[in-house]
Amino acid sequence: MARSPLVAGNWKMNGLLASAGELQKIMAGAEKLAGVDVMVFPPATLLAGFAAAARGSRVAIGAQDCHALAAGAFTGDISAEMLKDAGAQAVIVGHSERRHYHGETDVMVRDKALAARRAGLMAIVCIGETQAERDAGHARAVLRTQLDGSLPDGTADFAVAYEPVWAIGSGLTPTPRDIADMHGFIRQFLSSRYGEAAQQTRILYGGSVKPSNAAELLTVDNVDGALIGGASLKAEEFLAIAQVYG
Ligand code: 13P
Repeated sequence: MARSPLVAGNWKMNGLLASAGELQKIMAGAEKLAGVDVMVFPPATLLAGFAAAARGSRVAIGAQDCHALAAGAFTGDISAEMLKDAGAQAVIVGHSERRHYHGETDVMVRDKALAARRAGLMAIVCIGETQAERDAGHARAVLRTQLDGSLPDGTADFAVAYEPVWAIGSGLTPTPRDIADMHGFIRQFLSSRYGEAAQQTRILYGGSVKPSNAAELLTVDNVDGALIGGASLKAEEFLAIAQVYG
């Protein structure tokens, strides 16, 4: 069975109540894109409202992070169960901005992915090397360590997002050949750890995806969709990217 592509918009710390119009435009456009799953990951403040607005549409709503535990004295944190309760269907874990600005380790990311599974959310587990790691020839080794430590055991019921840190928000992207190489490496890793079932696991590419490069980057072998930051804030751009699979 072929993997259905997933185009996911990570709004990061952007969006106010007034952004509901952008979601409406995304929902309207997604109706015409039967060949691709579309998800929007707004900030937590918009999650419940967006989930209610998107119910019955082709757009699913997800969250950008979760705590590993279900409840407790953790001021400011949000559990996977709470996200599910608010209408989320998925959660991003281990985004490089969480790893770098909040010191999240592979073990913490794995615990969050397990929390997602416990709550019935699909986790999108993010990995990716820095420029310095790539320049030193360590990109694969970094990915292996992150995959080893961040992915939960058992079933491959998550998606992986390969987001080279140096490509995020920079306008720089790897070549299609580099992407094929890294995604092939990730697929191999998944197959050796999870067996045949890993053929169903989606591997997304993220980092400076925009309408002008989407066709080139997203049709590479073992690229099953995209995790999009900046370009997902504008419905027209986001839909133009999703159109690659439409
Ligand atoms: P940009 O698309 O803005 O480069 O961000 C990518 C990203 O970090 C998505 O999670």
